[in-house]
This record gives sequence, structure tokens and C-alpha cells, in this order.
Amino acid sequence: KKILFAASEIHPLIKTGGLADVAGALPIALRKKGLDVRLIMPAYQGILDKVESIYHSTNLGNPFGIGDIILLESRLRENDIPIWLVQCQALYERDGGPYLDTNGLDYVDNHLRFGAFSWAIAMLAQHGNLLGWQADILHLNDWQTGFAAAYLKSWKLNHLPIVSTIHNLRYNGSFDMARYGDMRLSNELLDLHGMEFYGRFSGLKAGLVYADRITTVSPTYAKEILTSEYGDGMDGTLRAIRYKLTGILNGVDYDQWSPEKDDHIATHYSPDTIEKKLDNKLALLRENGLSEDPTKLVFGVVSRLTEQKGLDLILEAIPQVLNKGARLIILGSGDRALETAYQALQASYPEQVSIRIGYHEAYSHRIQAGVDALLIPSRFEPCGLTQLYALKYGTLPVVRKTGGLADTVFEGTEQANGFVFENATALDLSKALERCLTCFADMQAWRIRQFNAMQYDFSWETVTDEWIELYNQLA
Ligand code: ADP
Ligand code: GLC
Repeated sequence: KKILFAASEIHPLIKTGGLADVAGALPIALRKKGLDVRLIMPAYQGILDKVESIYHSTNLGNPFGIGDIILLESRLRENDIPIWLVQCQALYERDGGPYLDTNGLDYVDNHLRFGAFSWAIAMLAQHGNLLGWQADILHLNDWQTGFAAAYLKSWKLNHLPIVSTIHNLRYNGSFDMARYGDMRLSNELLDLHGMEFYGRFSGLKAGLVYADRITTVSPTYAKEILTSEYGDGMDGTLRAIRYKLTGILNGVDYDQWSPEKDDHIATHYSPDTIEKKLDNKLALLRENGLSEDPTKLVFGVVSRLTEQKGLDLILEAIPQVLNKGARLIILGSGDRALETAYQALQASYPEQVSIRIGYHEAYSHRIQAGVDALLIPSRFEPCGLTQLYALKYGTLPVVRKTGGLADTVFEGTEQANGFVFENATALDLSKALERCLTCFADMQAWRIRQFNAMQYDFSWETVTDEWIELYNQLA
């Protein structure tokens, strides 16, 4: 079976969040099961240096009048998976991230940047035989690829089965109708059952309404998004097409995320040598100039700093436990107000709090290995990967019971592997922090929970069968 897997970020080429981890791991897990999965992503600035050489290039022409769109065929260096990079200098070769400019603002032409990307995806999917590889199924991910379903729909050629995966409903990729003319899409697609979304046009909605199957990244989020509370305005649409929606939990690439083989951490450890986790804790405290007291609980955060992640709740709840000697180490970037607020917290507790703004892959691993507990008080969380990584490192997650967090972290059961609270309030979070401190004070109770945590298996292998079954139903 041939699957074209399209994503706007793929680790290790480029990453802003969990989508990159998924796009860099699920296709490889599926290839190990014999599926011919191939990737497609924009050729952002610097990307060509990170892949193998280019084997083949195909000029698709200049349909948007902004320069030629060229498909470059290569492979990811490490694991040999074929990848097409969509090159268009005017659109992708820029300073800044994949979505935001150097000032942290959306590029003003994101509709075209991802419209053109989607157009190239659709071209490859539809005319693959001309390029030597015809996909049986097109797998889209999030709004940046959703317009591909609209192009295929408007071309009215042979129907190619489409799977769309929602990683985050909050980003609906909707744009002012005034821009629609840029897209070279027919107006027929703008009716209520098409890509029109509250007077705008939406890449995410296009991907959903024109897909044959929709998946999202955890079973609980799949249910939540049918409600107005979590539906972000898309719940009505989703309820109408719920017959094609399922939740399949994300997995973990344990080659990259396990304390037994992680090259980024000070000392390797396993459940049998859990006491060596302390070396990583002390190294992390030292690295941050915090006092190296092993008896004090260290909380960690590795996160995009956005409303979604509930990090404002930590600001409110944390002083209480800091006053009891706990530590807090944060890595994140995003919302400027949150960055400033955390810097102020650090200034008030210079011996106990460390904040690092920015994106640092290696440091994120050292935090996973070095802290005792990881805080993830999300308002919503489609799946969440950091709690899955934490479990493997014997780092206990403190999570709000929502989305994928509710499906993977448990408290109050025999197999408890973390701390779970119900409401997105500082009060509920602070109660959970207190339970965490109490447990930590009883080393035996803490160890039991750590062992439980490390025993859970969330490898991709545990879900590849679900994916294969879904693809089989389509092709
Ligand atoms: P989301 O995709 O919503 O950001 P996930 O938990 O699914 O949340 O995935 C986040 C991924 O991004 C994880 O691999 C996490 O380690 C990583 N990450 C988040 N912020 C940073 C950062 N500032 N530096 C390095 N890695 C980060
Ligand atoms: C999104 C979600 C996150 C999920 C990730 C990968 O960014 O916010 O919960 O784990 O996608 O699917």
C-alpha cells in the first residue's frame, strides 16, 4: 500500500511541537510494517542541508504567479524514508519559523504559503504516475495541508481516498474571504458544507469535509471536539460528519525518548537503576545554578507558552510549593506576556526557579531526565507527548484530565502513574501539587509510582495495527 503523508513540520528537519514528532515517527513505524509511506513538506530555509542529496526534481510550473513550484525528491538521512520537498523561494525561504516571522507574527501570506504547499501535495497525489510513484491514499495533517483536499475536489478527477488527522482544532487555518481569489479554487467549494467557516475560508475545514476518514490523536479528544466547549466552532461540522471520525492515540519513538539510550542526558538509567536518575537531577540543578538539594522536589515544564497549555495556572499555584522548598525549571517559548511573567517569578525566587526562553531540543531531554515531576495543566490537549516522554523517564506527570492526558495519566488506581486534576483552576492544580509533595515525602510510595510510570508502553508499535486497519478500509 502506498501512502503519501503530508505535514508542515517533520522532526528532525523542523519542529515547533508534537506534530513534527508524529510526522517523523509514525510513517517510519508504518514502513517497518511493510507500508510504502512517503513524506511531503515545504522546503523551508536551510532544509536542503538537512536531507540527503536531491535525486530528482520536477518543475510543476507557476500556477499562483509567485514563482515556480518545484518538487525535490530526497530521503531523510537517518532512516531512508523518501521525502518530497516543495520548493518555492518566494514562499518558503525566509528567516523565522515555519508559520511565524522573526517577530513572532503570522506571515501575512500564510494562505498562499500553505495553499501552494497543498496544491503541490494534490498534484503529487493525483499525478504520481507521471512522477513514478502513485499514492493509493493521501494522509493530511492539520490545516496547513487541508487545502489539498479542496484542490482534489475542485479538479474532479479520479477519487483518491483521503485521511485527515486533527492534531489541534484551535488552529483552523481560516482566512479573510478577500484572499480567496489568490487560491485558484472554485467558488463552488464555499457553501456551508464546504470550506466556508464563519464568513472566512478554512484549510482545516476543507481537510475535514472532503476527507473520507478523519482521525484525531486521542480517543478522549475525539469525543471532546464534538462539544461546543472543545469544538472551537467546528463542533457542528464535526457532529454532522462524526461517522467518519475516530481517535487513535499517538505513540512515542523510544529510540529517541528513553533514559536507557538518550544521548542528551548526563547519566543513563532504567527501572533497575532508577537511583541514577538523581545524577541527572543534580546535573540539571547545577546547569541552572540552583541549589543542589536532592531532598527537594523539582518540577519541570517543557512547553509552547500558549493559552492551551494552562501555564498561567502554574504562576498562580506554584508560590505555595516554592515556599515549601520545591524548585521549578521551565523551557518554553511563545506568548510574550507569559515569558515576562515567568521571568518575574524567577527574579522573585532566584535560587529555586529557572526559566529558559527558546527552543532547545537537547535541553528538553535533560529536563525530562532531571526533574521529578512534569507539569501539564492544559485547558485542552489533543494528545500531548511530553507526558508520555516523562513516564518513560520515571518523571511523574501532573496533568489536567483532558484529551490525551486523560487517556494516559492516572491517579487513584492501582496502576497510578502521575497526578490528575479535574478543573482548569489554580485551586485544583495546587491541590494536585500538594498531593505530589506528599507522595514525594514518602520515597517508597514515590518509587512505586515511578515504576508504574516506566512500565507503560506507548510505543508506535502499539497503534500501527489501528492505522493499517483504517487504511485497509479505504483502499
Ligand atoms: P504541542 O504539540 O501541543 O506543542 P506535544 O506535547 O504534543 O504538544 O508536543 C510538544 C513537543 O515539542 C515535544 O516534543 C516537546 O518536547 C517539544 N517542545 C515544546 N516546547 C519546546 C521547547 N521550548 N524546546 C524544545 N522542545 C520543545
Ligand atoms: C498538537 C497538540 C498535541 C499533540 C500534537 C501531536 O500540537 O497540541 O496535543 O500531541 O499535536 O499530535
